[in-house]
Formats: sequence, C-alpha cells, structure tokens
Amino acid sequence: MSGLGGEEARKFVAKRVQGIRASEIRELLKLTEGRDVISFAGGLPDPETFPKEELAEVAREVILQRGEQALQYSPTKGVTEFRRVLQGFLRDNNVKVTVDDDVIVTTGSQEALYLVGKSLVDPGDVVFTESPTYLAALNVFRQFGARFISAPIDEDGMKTEILEERVKKAAAEGLRLKLIYTIPTSQNPGGVTMSLERRKHLLEIAERYDLLVVEDDPYSFFTFEPVDVVPLKTLDKSGRVIYLGSLSKILAPGLRIGWALGPSWAITTLELAKQAVDLHSSTLSQYVAMEAIRRGLVEKTVGKARRIYKAKRDMMLEAMEEYFPEGSSWTRPVGGLFIFAYAPEGIDTKALLPEAVERGVAYVPGASFFPEGGGENTMRLNFSYPTPVQIREGIRRLGLLLKEKAGR
Ligand SMILES: Cc1ncc(COP(=O)(O)O)c(C=O)c1O
Repeated sequence: MSGLGGEEARKFVAKRVQGIRASEIRELLKLTEGRDVISFAGGLPDPETFPKEELAEVAREVILQRGEQALQYSPTKGVTEFRRVLQGFLRDNNVKVTVDDDVIVTTGSQEALYLVGKSLVDPGDVVFTESPTYLAALNVFRQFGARFISAPIDEDGMKTEILEERVKKAAAEGLRLKLIYTIPTSQNPGGVTMSLERRKHLLEIAERYDLLVVEDDPYSFFTFEPVDVVPLKTLDKSGRVIYLGSLSKILAPGLRIGWALGPSWAITTLELAKQAVDLHSSTLSQYVAMEAIRRGLVEKTVGKARRIYKAKRDMMLEAMEEYFPEGSSWTRPVGGLFIFAYAPEGIDTKALLPEAVERGVAYVPGASFFPEGGGENTMRLNFSYPTPVQIREGIRRLGLLLKEKAGR
C-alpha cells in the first residue's frame, strides 16, 4: 500500500476522538447488505409518509419566489421568520414557550444534542439518563467526557424514585451534577412513555439538586393512541428545561431540521457553539419547512404516519405473540418507531446476531443502549421501515431462533 494508512496514520488523529471506534454492531449489520435479510435494525421512517408532490411544489415556489433569501446564508440561530412560525407550531402542540425562552434551528435534533454536549458538559460532569437510552446521545455526551449515572425504566418511563436516590448519592459524593437527559414520550429504545406523576417528580428532583433537564422529544407528535402527555418543558416552573424537537419523523429526515427551545442564556451558548460547527442550518430547508408547516403538510404527514405505524406496530406485536418463546417480553409502544424486547434470561442477543443474520433477520442488540452495562438479553426492533409482510416473516424467523436457544 502506498501513502499513509492504518496504525501509522493514527498519530494524526486528535486524542479527543481516538477513543471513538466504528461500532462493532454496525460492522456486523454490514453483513446484511445485498442479502435476503429482513432488517429490524434501522430506524428509518416509512418513505410512504413523505409528502413528495407537495414538498416538490413548495421547494419550487420557495426557490423561484423567495430564492434571494432561501438560497442565501442566514443567521446562526435560524431564519427569523421560520423561528417565529416554529414557536407558533410548538405552542399549538402544547409546548410552553415563555418570554424568557429562545429557539435555535439545528441540523436535526442530533446537532442540538451535540451542541448541548459541546457547550454544557465538562469532563467529569454527571449526566443522568434512562437505562436504556438513545445511543447517539450517549456517544455525544461520552465524547465530552460525561460520567453517566442512570435509572431503569418500566412501562411508566424512567423510575424517578431510583433517579432521586442516585442523584442524592452522587451529590453526597461531591460529584459535579449537570443535567438529566430524558426521552419522556415513546422512549428510544425502550418504547415507554413517562407518566405525568413521574414527569412532575423528575422536575422536582431537578429543582432540588439544581440540575438542567434536556428533554428529547422527536416522537410525541404522532402517538398512535390517545395519551395524555404534557411535555416537561410545559410543566417546568423554573426555566431549567431545554426542549429538543425535530421534523425528521413528522415531515422528512432528509430536510435535517431540528431545534432547541429553552432559556435564552442556554440558546445563546448553543448558538456560539453552532457558529463554529456549520454557521447555520440549510436556509433552503428552513424555508421549505416553514411553508410546509404553514400549509398543513406536517399535520397531513402525522395523520398518515399514525395510520401506517399503528398497523405495523400491531402486526409486529401480533407476530411476537405468536412466535416468541415463553420467558420473553416486550414493550407496547404508543408511538415512535421501535419495540424493545427482552429475550429469555441467558440469551445473549449480541452473540446471537450473526446466527440471526444467517437465518435472514437482523436487529440491534440492546446492551449498547445501557450506559452502565446490562441488557445483554435485550434487542431493539424497528417496525416503521419494513413492510407488513416482512415484519411477520422476520419475527417468525427470529422467534424460531429464540425458541431453539431457549429450548422451549
Ligand atoms: C431520541 C432521538 N433523539 C434524536 C434523534 C435524532 O434525530 P434527527 O437528528 O433526525 O432529528 C433521534 C433519531 O432517531 C432519536 O431517536
């Protein structure tokens, strides 16, 4: 081989990212490419939900009629007119926006998470999370040296009693407590929704121990069943919640439009961090998103997503009921894109994955979603992307394999 490569090139890589490795699971899942494998491993919305015709029309109009602005650089915090529309949209959806709040448009909510990590987390700061939780958030916080302390979940979301015990213990040990990161509605990967009582309790804990709360909420806009969810942002009385949202699941992820809403001081900090990352999110996407919201395309997409995902979720639940062995259990999510399953004790889902791929089915082993270890018998199953026929057949294949392993 000519030129620099492999180990030799490592000396050029900054220490801060040297610890980041391509995930071994991602490597394993590469084996599924080009093979007859039904994959429950992804997290993609169903493209059927994308309002293609309408978005094409909006994009054409925006470019031809407002191209001078829409194709131009724009402010780091986002296009001012869009930020106003967004705030109205959030208020209409029961998200409280106070006079002390501000909003920044980000490149998906993933960037908002990154900006939170970059501007608020120092090495050694404690970040409290649910266990399991969103892997890409863990990776962000890990990159900035966070120390994780987690609380388990049950069907009512994060067990806040346990959270309180752990916060209290960490405070007594003199650790630097920084924030609670939570996905209260249709949790990824857990598929559970936090009860109102626990939401209130979580905010009480945050107040008592002076913690910030990062509420990650990509899923509450399209729950499939009526659920009484009030965002933490709306319940918050002390201005300590930073609320993250996204158009990825309620319009189209390819637009890469997300946002952070929170106290002005926090948004200004994120804005400074964002300046160095990408100057601003795509102006064109912001104009398209603004018009899409104004014309009701989000409501339309949400309506369609609800119908399609509910049918797919039900199909997956029904097939699991039929094919999964005794001793396994799973969540019944009211929204989101995932079911979280617990295989019978003793089955290591990571070790099982190559065999599952051989049998033509893939999933994400759950252990890497647990910040402090555990979850070896768990798996995350995506139901939004595969077709109903694939869902049934994939669960059949997986169920038979689990039955063999469990000896039932
Ligand atoms: C809980 C959670 N937060 C954030 C994101 C990031 O999404 P996006 O950057 O597309 O808004 C996702 C994506 O699946 C997610 O599940």
